[in-house]
Amino acid sequence: MTDDRHETRAAAPGKIILFGEHAVVYGRPAIAVPVFQVHAQATVEPRAGEVTIDAADIARRFDLANAPADDPVATIITRTCARLGVTPRDFAIQIRSTIPVARGLGSGAAVSVAIARALTNFFATEGTEKKELRNSVSPAPSVARLSNEDISELAYQVELLHHGTPSGIDNTVIAYEQPVYFARGQPIESFRVARPFLIAIADTGVAALTKIAVGDVRRAWEADRVRYEALFDQIGAIAQNARAAIERGDIDALGLLMNGNQDLAREIGVSSPEIETLVNAARHAGARGVKLSGAGRGGNVITLIDEGNRAEVERALLAAGAARVIVTRVE
Ligand code: MEV
Repeated sequence: MTDDRHETRAAAPGKIILFGEHAVVYGRPAIAVPVFQVHAQATVEPRAGEVTIDAADIARRFDLANAPADDPVATIITRTCARLGVTPRDFAIQIRSTIPVARGLGSGAAVSVAIARALTNFFATEGTEKKELRNSVSPAPSVARLSNEDISELAYQVELLHHGTPSGIDNTVIAYEQPVYFARGQPIESFRVARPFLIAIADTGVAALTKIAVGDVRRAWEADRVRYEALFDQIGAIAQNARAAIERGDIDALGLLMNGNQDLAREIGVSSPEIETLVNAARHAGARGVKLSGAGRGGNVITLIDEGNRAEVERALLAAGAARVIVTRVE
């Protein structure tokens, strides 16, 4: 361990999927945006010996050496260190997160990104680079800073543990921290938001594991590929049209497309009574568009609002049982 290591900290935002969840696993495009109102944070500090991990928010304290091979936190630490070419030891890592778990807000990917970023900052410190220059005879091994792409790829490896067939959209939007138009295997596309808009994110209060919903959709697709491929095509077309609507600032069209996406999400079997209750409450309160976001079966419902109906829609969502409502601005 070089003696100029010092505590480093990094954060990563949550995310919502605006359009195209599930169909994106099958190659159709989807749109996701970061949510900066919630975040995961990782702090790495020098500490001699084995790596210790403190994730107090989920009541976990453990040593890297004792973690199961498929533990997500252990996996991102060991893979990031391998990518950086350093031995995982002589540091302690603390993880904090305000992102509710299993609500479609990308908590797992955000924790991975925050850890990968904090570790790259820890090992690739400015101090190390300067020292290398000064000690040019026998320099310390150089540790390159990881790019957003590298960090996204590392987080994707962990997503593979959460559910077997991740599209990669969660790690991408969280690592790049910008709205993305995403299709598997294609270069990431950003897009222009012609008119910023507000989204209310309402928590059904029901935790739902992505891997369960994704696995159920896969079984349904296997049982009736023709029908599901057609549904995925329709969802993909909605995502494509939504991008065009965002680029020309057509908020009315955006609302209609959200409602259309919700109808299709229901058809592929990922809505739930709690989601439908919030969807109906938001519509009755005058929201222009509302749909589930993420894997569904619980998690969050997103609603297109404006300053005129914001208070009323928020009130209606809470009265209908939302555990909490966060408002985010997409711009
Ligand atoms: C989860 O946030 C989004 C899903 O489409 C799964 C994925 O894309 O990997 C349900």
